[in-house]
Amino acid sequence: MPSQYYKFMTKLSVNVNKIATLRNARGGNVPNLVKVASDIEQFGADGITVHPRPDERHIKYQDVYDLKKVVKGEFNIEGYPNHKFIELVLDVKPHQVTLVPDPPGILTSNQGWDVKGHEEFLKPIIAQFKQAGIRVSLFMEPNATVMEDVVSVGADRIELYTGHYADDYANKEQAIKKYKAAAVQAAKLGLGINAGHDLSLANLAYFASEIDNLDEVSIGHALVSDALYYGLEEIVMLYKERL
Ligand code: PXP
Repeated sequence: MPSQYYKFMTKLSVNVNKIATLRNARGGNVPNLVKVASDIEQFGADGITVHPRPDERHIKYQDVYDLKKVVKGEFNIEGYPNHKFIELVLDVKPHQVTLVPDPPGILTSNQGWDVKGHEEFLKPIIAQFKQAGIRVSLFMEPNATVMEDVVSVGADRIELYTGHYADDYANKEQAIKKYKAAAVQAAKLGLGINAGHDLSLANLAYFASEIDNLDEVSIGHALVSDALYYGLEEIVMLYKERL
């Protein structure tokens, strides 16, 4: 393909936690999480993300095993690496694990790692995952100066926490600056780049067009909310179009 037509393909991984939350509201199996995840992939998503939390209030540990059997694209498990989480990930062996520094009981992930402050904690955990052949991504603030720390603990990728970008989207040229700087530095150091949190139909296209080498976005809340209006098949296509 002539180089002027080359467009870096960013993968869309759909976070299905909200589907599990809806199911759990009634205690049965409606909607059927495994079927919805399979359909989302069939509609064009490149992968599925789950974020099991210690209280299992949305994704249950059993869901992760059930999904592993059906997910055909990339399977990404994200979460705080406590003992139970580490055991689950090593057992299921997804393509990627995304480590987030959530304190237990938090409503949603709302900050990246202080990698330097957790170096001794993170290093052996990352080594264990990598030894098992699982790619490791760290949820990070858009701060170019700490990308070296990610390399030094042995992670393969960063996931840029895009909450600030979404909040400041009205002034998007300003909001994107620190993300660009962080991504440029990460790429220079050989790290892959993912992004997620509060990405939406409205703000995704600009983010993807401004960040070179964006490997993957993981999107849950806005996509599932938009599906109420558009339907799942249509909404997966609309998000893919923006990438
Ligand atoms: N990335 C991480 C680390 C998250 O914790 C979440 C939310 O579970 C997401 C991405 C997806 O965010 P949203 O649901 O706002 O699209």
